[in-house]
Amino acid sequence: MPTLPHVKDADVDGKRVFLRCDFNVPLDSECNITDETRILASLRTIHFLLDRGARVYVTSHLGRPKGKVVPELSLKPVATRLADLVGGEVPLIEDYTDGDYPETLGRIGPGEIAVLENTRFLPGETKNDPELGAAYARLADIYVNDAFGTSHRAHASVVSVAERLPHYAGFLLVEEIEHIDGLLQEDVARPYVVCLGGAKVKNKLPILEFLAPRVDTILIGGACAFTFLKAQWREVGTSMVEEDMIEAARTVLTNQANMGYRIELPRDLLVAPNSDPDTEARLVDIEDFPHDCAGFDIGSKTQGAWDPLLRRAGTVLWNGPMGLFEDWRYNGGTRAIAKAIALGQGFSVAGGGETMSAINHFGLGWGFSHMSTGGGASLEYMSGKVLPGVAVLLDPQPVVV
Ligand code: 3PG
Repeated sequence: MPTLPHVKDADVDGKRVFLRCDFNVPLDSECNITDETRILASLRTIHFLLDRGARVYVTSHLGRPKGKVVPELSLKPVATRLADLVGGEVPLIEDYTDGDYPETLGRIGPGEIAVLENTRFLPGETKNDPELGAAYARLADIYVNDAFGTSHRAHASVVSVAERLPHYAGFLLVEEIEHIDGLLQEDVARPYVVCLGGAKVKNKLPILEFLAPRVDTILIGGACAFTFLKAQWREVGTSMVEEDMIEAARTVLTNQANMGYRIELPRDLLVAPNSDPDTEARLVDIEDFPHDCAGFDIGSKTQGAWDPLLRRAGTVLWNGPMGLFEDWRYNGGTRAIAKAIALGQGFSVAGGGETMSAINHFGLGWGFSHMSTGGGASLEYMSGKVLPGVAVLLDPQPVVV
């Protein structure tokens, strides 16, 4: 990847900076932030800009409000948290693209910050509408992208506005790209182990196909595993299977022999008729999978077999939990994987919102070389795709008149 223009090299003193972050954070039913990792991850860029005397207008999407104002998806909780973190007031600006320059924004002085309300409340945002991009651009002198997690979206606050202003990458974006690039080099430390979990084979297939020829071992757990087990004609009971992905999964399994990688699927699982709190789970070998049960976590035999592979790996990439980890009865597999990677000595990168939540929940973040704030973005980047939000930063700087 060519070097991105870094915000640390930009002249931001006194300038108005449109800062795109990914503050798409989980909220509870009372709109309290339940995981603030993404906010903390952009603090370096925010502090840098404030310290250099920039007027910071930070924005993000939150959820998928589809171009309408959905009060529960307001960035108000983010503005409140930012006020705690950086000190002082952090106003939330609601109407900032229609009509005159917003008065509240005009009052933001050097070294001060305001939050622009959820970009996805605006109908043109997800269409990368050039008019909306121009409206964003009119607010500021400089554009900074620190939203790695959204850089796979060609949206107006990610691409169109960046085409119209001098544009830079924030500290988080640069760090994410550098670490993930580390996984894509020819000379990575070996053995190279990829551990995939979570629900959707469809989302993981591109990364599997791209990385498989470059890695040594692929461990597949979580709901993804059932489609692969089914591709081996195994009984998986009522577990979640993506029927339309079985053939593709079979191809990945068949290619092991001639492409030099090895796939490990669960050897045992915790199964139950359903995931209700009072339904008892039991541990079964894969050969004894009951036809009337679904699998909710990888079993102890699987954890024992995968532990040394992860600990001894030179490079590890992990994306997706191993089971229904939000339920304490089914979090053992995800905890075991997180612990094995954390205690290993290799270069380790974890990606995806659920994976990060799990690692933070177990308090094991210290053991990872990098925890990516991107879910879909990290999967796409690790599949060899060009992210539109990154590509636009590599374009020549526009001539601003
Ligand atoms: C994410 O949470 O992965 C990013 O914020 C992107 O969100 P999206 O999938 O709604 O575009």
